[in-house]
Amino acid sequence: MSNIGSYEGRLKNFDWSIAEKELGYNKGEAINIGWYCSDRICEMGKAGKTALIWEGLGGVARQYTFDDIRVNSNKFGAFLRSLGLKNEDRVCLFMDKIPELYIGFLGVLKIGAIAQPLFSAFGDESLHVRLDNAETTAIITQRKHVSKVRRIIEKSPYLKHVIIVDHDGKKPLKDREMTFNMEEYEEPKDFEFFPTKAETPSVLHYTSGTTGQPKGVKHVHYSLISQYLTTKWVLDLLEDDIYWCTADPGWVTGTSYGIIGPWSMGITQCVMDVGFSAENWYKFIEKHKVTMWYSAPTAIRSLMKAGDEVVKKHNLSSLRHLASVGEPLNAEAVIWSEKVFGKPFLDTYWQTETGSIMLTNFPGMKIKPGSMGKAFPGITAAVVDTKTFKPIQEVGKIGLIAFKPGWPAMMRTYWNNETTYKSKFTNGWYLPGDRAYIDLDGYFWFVGRDDDVINTGGHLVSPFEVESALLEHEAVAESAVVAKPDEVNMEVVKAFVMLNAGYEADDMLELKIMNFIRKKLSPLAMPQEIEYVKTLPKTRSGKIMRRLLHAKEWGEEIGDTSTLEDDE
Ligand code: PRX
Repeated sequence: MSNIGSYEGRLKNFDWSIAEKELGYNKGEAINIGWYCSDRICEMGKAGKTALIWEGLGGVARQYTFDDIRVNSNKFGAFLRSLGLKNEDRVCLFMDKIPELYIGFLGVLKIGAIAQPLFSAFGDESLHVRLDNAETTAIITQRKHVSKVRRIIEKSPYLKHVIIVDHDGKKPLKDREMTFNMEEYEEPKDFEFFPTKAETPSVLHYTSGTTGQPKGVKHVHYSLISQYLTTKWVLDLLEDDIYWCTADPGWVTGTSYGIIGPWSMGITQCVMDVGFSAENWYKFIEKHKVTMWYSAPTAIRSLMKAGDEVVKKHNLSSLRHLASVGEPLNAEAVIWSEKVFGKPFLDTYWQTETGSIMLTNFPGMKIKPGSMGKAFPGITAAVVDTKTFKPIQEVGKIGLIAFKPGWPAMMRTYWNNETTYKSKFTNGWYLPGDRAYIDLDGYFWFVGRDDDVINTGGHLVSPFEVESALLEHEAVAESAVVAKPDEVNMEVVKAFVMLNAGYEADDMLELKIMNFIRKKLSPLAMPQEIEYVKTLPKTRSGKIMRRLLHAKEWGEEIGDTSTLEDDE
């Protein structure tokens, strides 16, 4: 029997207070995610239970109990307080998937500050833009990443503290830099968490849109309510589970379901901070007897590509339940997983903005491979017409995915960008910007994005960000960036480039341009291909029509271009 039991049964009289009750939270009282994920679990008698099993490069491994998590996050909190940091200050976590990232995240929340996790592979510019937008006061990082911070520190006056968690005491520290060793720092006596309330900001995750700079999605401590219950009912975690979420906490899956969900339930989770290979992954599952595995379609397709033989070399019988998120999970991948692991990956759909799972396949529900399943109880979901924004009644007709606002983990705004936040709502619906249809049985099927954002391997890339980086190169006159199809990543980034006079369109220049933008972008946003063009298709008023280039890449009908020529 799964945690959710009967899906239909749960829909009746559903109320988020179910989660409030289970968490012992009463409206109006303090609710602090940091406390819920560590102190409360200890108070429930699970102080000695393993919370984190961690493995890094070269076979290094560390383990932490819930009490270790409690103590060490208190140390983080006390240290940050000693620097004068306080509630609502933004504190960036810029680390690989090391224990300090997971524990530091809770420490930041415990003092009521806002955790701003950023993917450690970000280049200087990607980092700077996000710190600048949030006016981040402190950054917690590692020795290996500090050079990036040093390159932007002069233009970051708001950034007062650069905290290095693994300093070896050898290299001299520069301006604003300091060290913090979680293991050696003295345990604070009588540490008290900041009494954050339901609507106190908790996490700021940056996400890319079509235009403009990345947007900071602001979440609040009350998001715990959704994250806890979706973890329980969808990821179906049980007391003795060994859970593995493969996402990096630089992205929302890695915090909502890689920290908050499992630890608020007191579940043991494991983390592997080693690059991807099918062999490594299977070994990890076998060694730690992983029972619940939450991953992403690109990883699953990569495993599929590695073949069935490597699966057979390992004993993966511990696996009980599998789920996936981030991009379309094709039917083949679901069927393949059923064949090789004996159970299908259940697709879940949500966003940085939604904070928690919205559409999903539930344990025990009939799975239709390729479908995203149905709405989580308490979520009113529809597919609405693109013009009237009213729910489409016709079965199978494509429209926009829409949700009625009001679930606990919904973003509260985009940081300093209320206008864009408001633009996401129409006719009383929150529109995530995706197209889908609903079948006869009420299952949702993903069709595509409704904007130019590229989803490569589950990571959203803004064409605008890549185009802006390209335009800074002296040879580039104009550029347009679109997705092109890819077997494993579904989509990869392709750039069309028009050169300034006097530049030769050759491989040497392509290499130079690539090296130039590499320093500005995250590796995930790097184009896989640059195509030189003499002109770019434009509307009458000169806006580049990415959609035409996109259609060509995907071998789609271009259709009536006269309408495309008009500005929208
Ligand atoms: O386009 C949808 C796609 O990823 C977008 C959200 O990306 P992000 O905010 O980075 O969060 C990813 C992890 C929660 C969505 O708007 N997406 C997410 N899940 C699915 C998906 N597309 C198809 N199927 C999914 N299951």
